[in-house]
Amino acid sequence: MNNIFEKEKELFISTYKRIPIDIDHGEGIYLYDSNGKKYLDFFAGLAVNALGYSHPDINKEVNKQMSRFSHLSNYFITDVQIQFAEKLLKFSGMSGIFLSNSGTEAVEGTIKLIRKLKGPDKKIFSFTGSFHGRTYGALTLTSNEKYKQGFEPLLPGISMLEFNNSSDLLKNINSDTAAVFIELIQGEGGIFPASEEFVINIEKLRKEFSFILVIDEVQSGIGRTGKPFSYNHFNIIPDIVLAAKAIGGGLPLGAILVSKELKTVLSAGNHGTTFGGNPVSCAAGKVVLEKVFEEGLLNKVQKNGDYFFTQLNNLKKEFPTDIKEIRGKGYMIGIEHFNECSNLVEKFRNRGVLVNCTNQNVVRILPPLIAEKEHIDVLISIYREILKENA
Ligand SMILES: Cc1ncc(COP(=O)(O)O)c(C=O)c1O
Repeated sequence: MNNIFEKEKELFISTYKRIPIDIDHGEGIYLYDSNGKKYLDFFAGLAVNALGYSHPDINKEVNKQMSRFSHLSNYFITDVQIQFAEKLLKFSGMSGIFLSNSGTEAVEGTIKLIRKLKGPDKKIFSFTGSFHGRTYGALTLTSNEKYKQGFEPLLPGISMLEFNNSSDLLKNINSDTAAVFIELIQGEGGIFPASEEFVINIEKLRKEFSFILVIDEVQSGIGRTGKPFSYNHFNIIPDIVLAAKAIGGGLPLGAILVSKELKTVLSAGNHGTTFGGNPVSCAAGKVVLEKVFEEGLLNKVQKNGDYFFTQLNNLKKEFPTDIKEIRGKGYMIGIEHFNECSNLVEKFRNRGVLVNCTNQNVVRILPPLIAEKEHIDVLISIYREILKENA
């Protein structure tokens, strides 16, 4: 076969900057290329592969479901969808669910729900630094102008407020507000957590004006931050929670989770999807929920996450002119550098470790939740080696 990267140029619409590795297979926390080189994967399919690659229990459940049926139309409801939904609702504390294929679709369905409930004139807000997806509604809610340029007109009735700026909230949120979308730890934006004070003010305004609070947990949910969802770090119960990425165990799956009060806003015919809630994805996702919430993986992330932050903070002390700030929680970590970080990512890759660079100078680390202390130690020692080399 021709080089796959040349073939890609010939065949594909080039919307992605690809990593120049020809992956052959994955196992546990490692990926292997076609020459047999092993990579420690510390961004896990961008927060998707919570249980790593080729997890035997996921494979078993997927194969079992495949041999029953891989797809039924949504005219049917199936046992595996019920089992998955029951678990996700239990661990999120929400009351109703709609299953989609992806995060951006969960956002779109939510905008429809909000419009139906609140009418066409009330405003929806999101925040600077946010990322909610690439379809039109989600793109409008997304902050980065680069993603939007050339694609206007976007969706009307959506505006952006400054993240972590309470006076901007107080100035703009009122009885004309339909909803607020927020990532409590911004992922793509550079791992920026919302401040306690900011969240308290959102809650105060929500009590006063009864807008819908939508927490986007697409990246931060399912144990990634050391709690079931990032809102569990705060004293809040959202109206809507959006989940995707990790919930399908590596297969496409997304979810809109709503409070009891919002369960009846959408009715038959209002919303739908051919593939949403695919039974094979639900079978894989059910294993993820069991491992994370019922079999102790969550506690491990919390403990190892603390260890990870201690090690990174030591590194920051050693290299104060390289590392500016370390942010995040659990296994959702951003290391902001004073300089651009794409060359660091390449150096990691050459040494057999995969990390991501976001927002130009933030090394983003999203290991599979199965990562152990020994894997963290490998990453830290390679990080040290690279920073020493740069000095
Ligand atoms: C916070 C957040 N919301 C929404 C999305 C969009 O999800 P998807 O890529 O599954 O459409 C992403 C994707 O990175 C995300 O990080």
